[in-house]
Amino acid sequence: MERRLTHGPRRPAPMTLDVERARRDTPGCEEVLHFNNAGASLMPEPVLRATVGHLELEARIGGYEAAAREEDALERVYGAASRMLGCAPDEIAVTENATRAWDMAFYSIPFSPGDRILTAQAEYASNYIAYLQVAQRTGALVEPVPDDEHGQISVPALRYMMDERVRLIAVTHVPTNGGLVNPAKEVGKVAREAGCLYLLDACQSAGQMPLDVGGIGCDMLSATGRKYLRGPRGTGFLYVRRGVLERLEPPFLDLHAAEWTARDQFEIRPDARRFENWEANFAGKIGLSVAIDYALDIGLEAIRERVYSLAKSLRDGISEIPGVVVRDIGKERCGIVTFTAEGKSPEEIKDALSTRAVNVSVAPPASTLLDSQARGLDGMVRASVHYFNTDEEVERFCAALDRIMREM
Ligand SMILES: Cc1ncc(COP(=O)(O)O)c(C=O)c1O
Repeated sequence: MERRLTHGPRRPAPMTLDVERARRDTPGCEEVLHFNNAGASLMPEPVLRATVGHLELEARIGGYEAAAREEDALERVYGAASRMLGCAPDEIAVTENATRAWDMAFYSIPFSPGDRILTAQAEYASNYIAYLQVAQRTGALVEPVPDDEHGQISVPALRYMMDERVRLIAVTHVPTNGGLVNPAKEVGKVAREAGCLYLLDACQSAGQMPLDVGGIGCDMLSATGRKYLRGPRGTGFLYVRRGVLERLEPPFLDLHAAEWTARDQFEIRPDARRFENWEANFAGKIGLSVAIDYALDIGLEAIRERVYSLAKSLRDGISEIPGVVVRDIGKERCGIVTFTAEGKSPEEIKDALSTRAVNVSVAPPASTLLDSQARGLDGMVRASVHYFNTDEEVERFCAALDRIMREM
């Protein structure tokens, strides 16, 4: 028997966009209740068609020939990403994922012994591992800035920690383990005042909220295609501000990133494509450009409003289920909801939901080690909503979780 959750009527998520159309465009909505949009979202039909269309063209006429024929479509991704971020197309590099985009920027920075890297507590494991490696190699220092009372990076603490040895502030905008939205713009103000480099990992925020690199004040920003942008897997991109581009020498170069000009000379190209390499996922690039345009057409402000509201309903709903504790923190919280369930591992919950065609993922403690240790968290279930999800799906999710908690 289904237990009625005691919550009163929740405020329906605002129809800031055409949800019916978004669902019609998303074949996956017929198959699953997809709350794993921070893992990989469901591609909309136009993205799928563009990606598969290019693969089919490659199969029919040849990969190089398909690239030549679709040159304009392949170029469009730079324009689309630059429109989304408010920068110039030549400040964009397209990469195979967000990690490689971030790495290309980070490993380009020439650190010296004693240089300081300031970061946040909820930093992503791959970024932190890179800090540690570079610190071991160069003698740079890695220093996490404390959180404030809301759980976001404390801007006053950051300001207090600044001195002339701070070479880089590198922060994750939305961590992998919850809805927290770090105050990217306020961090940017501190970086601009100090004149140090600022790298923002926008992997989880790109596609669920507006991102304006000028307003944020970052020098570099990395993002992925498959998450909130709803693009194909194996795509990502990097923004690097023109003013810092030429000071950053990529850790790897090839004949696309640089030109072999004489027997013992090469010249690195002047634009952000110095961070790319020659061979790429061409179908993915076309799909990514369609995905970005699709999000821009709907409007990132409208997307944010609906996503935040659905996530709030989800937090309210699951917090009424006995034994379930919502774990994500922050003054501003986005579409990612993390929780633990008493007596059940996150994997057990994920598997039980999966048998009901409900998709979530697990946030393991090592993905954000500092934050997990500080809060004593041993893994969480991560449910992440998108604008094409509905109030009815939130209700169904809560009912399914409630049943699992009582039956397992
Ligand atoms: C905060 C954050 N940064 C970076 C990444 C890595 O992105 P990608 O898998 O596209 O390399 C992730 C992936 O989950 C993430 O959550």
